[in-house]
Amino acid sequence: MCGIVGYTGPKKAYPIIIKGLKRLEYRGYDSTGVALLGNSGLKVYKKKGRVADLEDYIVGKNVQANTGIGHTRWATHGEPSDINAHPHSSASGKLAMIHNGIIENYAQLKQELTNKGYTFKSETDTEVLLNFIEDIKNNNNCNLEEAVRIALKRVTGAYVILLIEEDKPDTIIAARKGSPLVIGIGKGEHFLGSDASPMLEYTKEVVYVNDYELAIVKPDELILKNLGNEKITPFVTKLDLELAAIEKGGYDHFMLKEIFEQPSTIYDCLRGRLDAANGTITMSGVMDNMEQLKAAKRIIIVACGTSWHAGLVAEYIFEELCRTPVEVEYASEFRYRNPIINKGDVIIAISQSGETADTLVAIEKAKEQGAIIFGIVNVVGSSIARISCGGAYTHAGPEIGVASTKAFTGQLAVLIMMALKIAKEKGTITIERYQSLLVELEQVPDKVASLLKNADQLKIIAEKYKGATDALYLGRGYNFPIALEGALKLKEISYIHAEGYPAAEMKHGPIALVDENLPVIFVATKDSYHEKIISNIQEIKARKGMVIAIITEGDEAIPALANDVFLYPMLMKLLHHC
Ligand code: BG6
Repeated sequence: MCGIVGYTGPKKAYPIIIKGLKRLEYRGYDSTGVALLGNSGLKVYKKKGRVADLEDYIVGKNVQANTGIGHTRWATHGEPSDINAHPHSSASGKLAMIHNGIIENYAQLKQELTNKGYTFKSETDTEVLLNFIEDIKNNNNCNLEEAVRIALKRVTGAYVILLIEEDKPDTIIAARKGSPLVIGIGKGEHFLGSDASPMLEYTKEVVYVNDYELAIVKPDELILKNLGNEKITPFVTKLDLELAAIEKGGYDHFMLKEIFEQPSTIYDCLRGRLDAANGTITMSGVMDNMEQLKAAKRIIIVACGTSWHAGLVAEYIFEELCRTPVEVEYASEFRYRNPIINKGDVIIAISQSGETADTLVAIEKAKEQGAIIFGIVNVVGSSIARISCGGAYTHAGPEIGVASTKAFTGQLAVLIMMALKIAKEKGTITIERYQSLLVELEQVPDKVASLLKNADQLKIIAEKYKGATDALYLGRGYNFPIALEGALKLKEISYIHAEGYPAAEMKHGPIALVDENLPVIFVATKDSYHEKIISNIQEIKARKGMVIAIITEGDEAIPALANDVFLYPMLMKLLHHC
């Protein structure tokens, strides 16, 4: 994932691009760069490191320009370095391009260009595509827009590209397939971004560019075309997003802010849908597809990362409440095999961003085979939301932290409501259980708020174990995917190796790793597995492992065994197997 920004209009482009890149650093932060078009020609500045490093590097340099593009990179081809950073310049030096995505047939294109005598400065697929475009432009004696269109017909993979050309000081050419691109419409100016955050303070009117579309963007003109050179009328959407929602609000970093936002984001997710007093759940996307959801012979959940973990929790929930068989698939595996999709299968795609390439392609393929796609997505208007036959938004607000947090709990809230609604329609839940779960679900935001009040205790525990080089996360039942998610967070954020495992499975191998240096985190809430997980804790203690247990308030058995405990209010009985 990378972040892209563009601007053309009467304002100074550089400050707008830098501010936009800072908002998009969640998409990539190993190198950054800008290309600026001004009176003194095309200038490219790029640097390994974060946006702040680029700013330091640029101090004193010429940044006079009203048109420009910027990029913050998450390396795919070639290590993070000044040379591999975007924008890339073409062989003639007249074109500059930024790219988010992967050009899968870049090796073949590179060979063709190498045979013609081209040499490459970087190791990136982007520089190959750029020179491929310039080569077409030179050979066909056509304009840049035409060259891009011809080139993209040969490209396989995913991309958003933004190009500027020395001889056209106010024009940006953009195109997308599989990666997100938003164009903001201002007064005599246009903004481009991977999402709407770089343009929020300037305009609320945006166009979400679709796959295989190409945009010619000038200060007072936006032309959209398909790759067949036919004009498309841009569909203008009004943004319902305020600037405050994408700022840190006093927290040290976005992830912390987003963790503490969960009482309100879960509330927002339930709001207007759940009405425990009247025993109703209103979800129009679910109702519109109820016949298929009720009749589903199988639900296949497709997702990546944290969203995949939400899918694993959903497997337990749907099987328990709806009695529908569920399979949970990594989108990156599902898309490349030849999966069997039968009539009557429903696919649920889960994604915070709604743009994860593997999830998007997986559901595109399944849709081609006739599957019904139900999307659970956070970003409104995103690609997965648009391609789904029906769906439900998580309403968690912008998630800037790379490691997903509040989107995960939002996904769980949507999945639980959805399962309850289907179970009621199907008659696989008693009315008493349905009603009591609705009441409990309504209480979850307040209970999460009270849990977060004790967050300082976690700092004390973290301080004690911060020197560990490995950790094991264990849970049973619904808490097994939660253990996986905990391990993922520790790896991604603390750079500590961690494994998540079903607690009972640990004895078949990983137990060999347990010694006095290994912290073992048990997600051991008071449920029908409680006694069994106590046995697993004993197994760890017998090997001198250090036990940190997350337990339900009032549990007296586990504190006697664990080195440290963190108390957790009883959330929902659904999650505790009553
Ligand atoms: C990863 C993020 O890159 O993408 C995870 O680090 C996230 O936190 C995963 O869960 C999938 O993203 P999405 O947007 O499809 O939910």
